Amino acid sequence: MVYISKNERETENIGEQLAKALHGGDVVAMRGGMGAGKTAFVRGLARGLGEESRVTSPTYTIVNEYETEPPLFHFDLYRLGSVDELFEIGFDDYLARGGICVIEWSENAGDDVVFSYIVEIEHDAENENQRRITISEA
Ligand SMILES: Nc1ncnc2c1ncn2[C@@H]1O[C@H](COP(=O)(O)OP(=O)(O)O)[C@@H](O)[C@H]1O
Ligand SMILES: [Mg+2]
Repeated sequence: MVYISKNERETENIGEQLAKALHGGDVVAMRGGMGAGKTAFVRGLARGLGEESRVTSPTYTIVNEYETEPPLFHFDLYRLGSVDELFEIGFDDYLARGGICVIEWSENAGDDVVFSYIVEIEHDAENENQRRITISEA
């Protein structure tokens, strides 16, 4: 599915829609460069799961947990030093807990992580605030 988003709120709304299709155990890869809108998308996704606080990027903690139903584990691997580090923070345990894992900078997760969905957010060359959001089932 391809969506065009004209502002941050629209990106959040598309994330909120995806939440309805997700189940515990799903792993979602977020692709797109810095400032693409990955965190905005995850904010809407969290809202779609019932989270009431405003989701921000877990850049310094690697993962934020939300007690939604199913729980949401929001990873940001931008500063991850190595794939080993991901397993040191207990990535396998998160997977085993049956929540929904959403991973920004999933490129850094190595080749062994199996994704359920891939969300790619691309800038529009002509319009500063426009994004093209492609959601694929992996
Ligand atoms: N259509 C859009 N969708 C999402 N963010 C947008 C959009 N247009 C402008 N922005 C801005 O781009 C930035 C996206 O930030 P963020 O979601 O943190 O990106 P990322 O997590 O990909 O680095 C925000 O400052 C937001 O206001
Ligand atoms: Mg981010």
